[in-house]
Amino acid sequence: MLAKAPGLGADMVFLDLEDSVSPLEKEPARAKVVQAIRDHDWGDTVLCVRVNSWDTEFTYRDVIEVVEGAGERLDEIMLPKVETAAQVVALDLLLTQIEKANGHGRRIGIEAQIETARGLINVEEICAASTRLETIIFGPADFAASAEMPVLTGGVQIPEYPGDHFHYVFSKILMAGRANGLQVIDGPFLKIRDLEALRDYTMRTRILGYDGKWSLHPDQIPVINEIFTPTQEQFDRAFDILDAYERATMGSERKGAVMFGDEMIDEASRKMATKFVTRGSRAGMKRSAD
Ligand code: GLV
Ligand code: MG
Repeated sequence: MLAKAPGLGADMVFLDLEDSVSPLEKEPARAKVVQAIRDHDWGDTVLCVRVNSWDTEFTYRDVIEVVEGAGERLDEIMLPKVETAAQVVALDLLLTQIEKANGHGRRIGIEAQIETARGLINVEEICAASTRLETIIFGPADFAASAEMPVLTGGVQIPEYPGDHFHYVFSKILMAGRANGLQVIDGPFLKIRDLEALRDYTMRTRILGYDGKWSLHPDQIPVINEIFTPTQEQFDRAFDILDAYERATMGSERKGAVMFGDEMIDEASRKMATKFVTRGSRAGMKRSAD
């Protein structure tokens, strides 16, 4: 499974030491993760390891063994069940010492999972806790347990609920992340064989403004990539808006707001269009020829 991971089309891969590892395997798993990082060619995949949370006895050794063992190929550490800004600061300080002691030239980034009621209450301070923070992630399975929701599957739609039971949570995490310039990522969808339900649920966080979603299985990757990539029509339209806006503002008319087809565009339209262009370009899209 690890050897296949780099070729599956995901932008990032994380290797887990936390909840998918049995308690009896926690310590041996560290060496396996280090070996996998060293032995495989990860190409340009962003590479991350999820360590155990600070309320266990494993976190500090997870971080030391993995960062020292994996060397500079490791891009990020993911910290689960983050509940306070201090927990992010603690990881930052530990990473700083490990990097100094080992003469590492590059700084490892931090991804923080919000998946408890306390983490959600403190998410704004958490997102501002360290310059190493790159990404904030919602963890629906642990969150459902923490909030005592009467569900047995994390991260799926609940038909009995008239709306989206996570809407507030999604929005609160998104705002805290955006206010601090972080990437905001939705967590796992556990019904791995139901790709249609995955598509529906992924669309929700995509529409709110999230940057991506976890995949638990190779089959989930194309669905998630498709939803988080603009369509060709959106991509082309974004370019057309940028062109029309540039002509209006910089041309002899010096207009700040003009008609584009049957709608008005202005500076805010330029910002919205730019997001589509950068997102699509990063995914390798090209503007259609006229
Ligand atoms: C992920 O870690 C989750 O709890 O959903
Ligand atoms: Mg979790």
